[in-house]
Amino acid sequence: MVKRIDEVMPRIAFGGDYNPEQWDESVWLEDAKLMQEAGVNLVSVAIFSWSVLEREEGKLDFSWLDRVLDILHDHGVGVSLATATASPPAWLSKEYPEVLAVQENGVPYQIGSRQHYSPNSKRFRYAVKQLVKEMANRYKDHSALKMWHINNEYGCHLAECYSDESLSAFREWLKNRYQTIENLNQKWGTNFWSQRYNEWDEIQFPVNLPTFYNPSQKLDYKRFMNDAIFDLYKIEKEVLREITPDIPVFTNFMYEFKPLNYFGWAKEMDLVTWDSYPDPREGKPYRHAMHHDLMRSLKNGQPFYLMEQVTSHVNWRDINLTKKPGEMRLWSYSTVARGGDGVMYFQWRQGKAGAEKFHGAMVPHSNDPNSRVYQEVKQLGNELKQLDGLAGARGTAKVAIVFDWENWWAVEHEGKPHNRLSYLDQVYQYYRSFYEKNIAVDFVEPNGNLADYQFVVAPMLYMIRDGEENNLEQFVKNGGTLIVSFFSGIADEQDHIHLGGYPAPLRSLLGLTVEEFAPMADDEINTIVANGEKFTVNTWADIIKLEGAKAIATFKENWYQDNPAVTIHRYGQGSSIYVGTNPSDDYLDQLISGILQQLEVSAPLDAPKDVEIAERVTNDKRYLFIINHNTDPVTIALKEGVVYQDCLQGKQVSQTITVQNTDVAILVY
Ligand code: GAL
Repeated sequence: MVKRIDEVMPRIAFGGDYNPEQWDESVWLEDAKLMQEAGVNLVSVAIFSWSVLEREEGKLDFSWLDRVLDILHDHGVGVSLATATASPPAWLSKEYPEVLAVQENGVPYQIGSRQHYSPNSKRFRYAVKQLVKEMANRYKDHSALKMWHINNEYGCHLAECYSDESLSAFREWLKNRYQTIENLNQKWGTNFWSQRYNEWDEIQFPVNLPTFYNPSQKLDYKRFMNDAIFDLYKIEKEVLREITPDIPVFTNFMYEFKPLNYFGWAKEMDLVTWDSYPDPREGKPYRHAMHHDLMRSLKNGQPFYLMEQVTSHVNWRDINLTKKPGEMRLWSYSTVARGGDGVMYFQWRQGKAGAEKFHGAMVPHSNDPNSRVYQEVKQLGNELKQLDGLAGARGTAKVAIVFDWENWWAVEHEGKPHNRLSYLDQVYQYYRSFYEKNIAVDFVEPNGNLADYQFVVAPMLYMIRDGEENNLEQFVKNGGTLIVSFFSGIADEQDHIHLGGYPAPLRSLLGLTVEEFAPMADDEINTIVANGEKFTVNTWADIIKLEGAKAIATFKENWYQDNPAVTIHRYGQGSSIYVGTNPSDDYLDQLISGILQQLEVSAPLDAPKDVEIAERVTNDKRYLFIINHNTDPVTIALKEGVVYQDCLQGKQVSQTITVQNTDVAILVY
């Protein structure tokens, strides 16, 4: 039986990627001592070690890794051991060129960077399996081994492959899905533009085309590549499960990453981990916060690990701004507040050679233990030790946002009424409003369990698969409040239109039909009037016909003036609200505040602007995080009659608390 993460790591994990093979052996001991001093209890080792571990085919040398693991273990540092498959060695592609991924133009990728493999290459899959077997057998009994880190950021640089082997695999995948070619013709709508297929081997990739692709074909290619990369993960997982059945396994996810359907992947992982690199230029990192909430939601609220972040600055943006003093610590607490049981970095020691030598790290080039960066790392690592009992604690959300990767793929395909709609931006827009009010939010799939929520928002849910409307209907019937925004309920799982008046599957739930779409030009705005107040809208207007719903805002200008823009419909015990345009933040804030008030859903505490508040709960304790992103101190009223223990200050507080600028308080009660 696989161990629970909080059994393996009973306290918050702290550490980072550790690449000892890039350093002389004399540095390893110093590393371990510094790690101990900095409160490091977990490091990810061997992520990019394949070519060092296996210099020639079948000739494995684990001696250096044995010594590294022993040193780490002797210093109380656990190991998240990578399977080393993320970057294949040169000999592999020389000997078996078919392992190389191929670009759209038919040119293979080459050795010299990383992740140049084709997920569909049978030879690559075989080589991976062999290496993972060797790794697992070698380290299955090593006491430093805490968990398996499979590969690294699957699809990060390369989530599409156009090799011959990929094409055969695509055709096989289609055969499996559709069984007959006639069925595929139906599901792809191939009578359009004379695209009918008689044989499976007539099917090509949806690239190198004179004009628009077939959206159903494109969608299936995305599904196919997601599945192909996922199969590669599962091949490794299967080997590891067999040899080390009790060791948790995972791979690390990414930030705003479209190609992989992480809800599906998370089901095969024992722990969700992800890598976050917010750009300091964005200011307060609310997108980073949203992704924490999304990652926590992928396994129904199970805490996640932040596997990678940077102490100071990355090196892969045009200009790489550095986090200001205190920001790294503060943002790390935001991670913990939102369900992070691990705070890790890329990487432990700043590199000397290679493409990432200017990327920040826990130990900078200077190797100076008094450097700002190392001091901040050390402070955080030692503070986190004071949060005993927190690992495993859950969130408290009563609000959920519907999120769906396949919808993301489909809604951003070309040939739409408006071709610059961004699914993520629509989701961010609603999320921002909750974030600024410190209202906890979970994310759910369209067919996910909504029973624990009072308020659900489905932004731009263009794709509704068979039966998903019933889940939303049931939620509202049972008393829930639902917001659906424009361009929702339009297409089915093949990206064919749901006929019968937009949004056909949601018409009775929303009590309306959308007769036409009226997208707006870039510089165009309109106004809506709600309760006598005016608000700006842009991007999109739906021409709505009411069928039981009531308008709560109407357009003020253009040929559809006085038409409904936002509507509400009583349905069963609850209400569904439709937002048929892209409103300004102030309108959304007002709409959402009104609903929250009615539902009596509130933040754990009232707080001034830019103070982030979140709570995590265990069976008998509540951990309240007050994170001050302001440049001035704030004083906040605490709950009447409650005496809290301040974890970081080690004293009791009640009535009010003052939190310094760029600082945090963690109160237990
Ligand atoms: C991640 C990757 C790491 C490192 C890091 C730099 O995408 O997993 O290996 O390259 O970016 O920010």
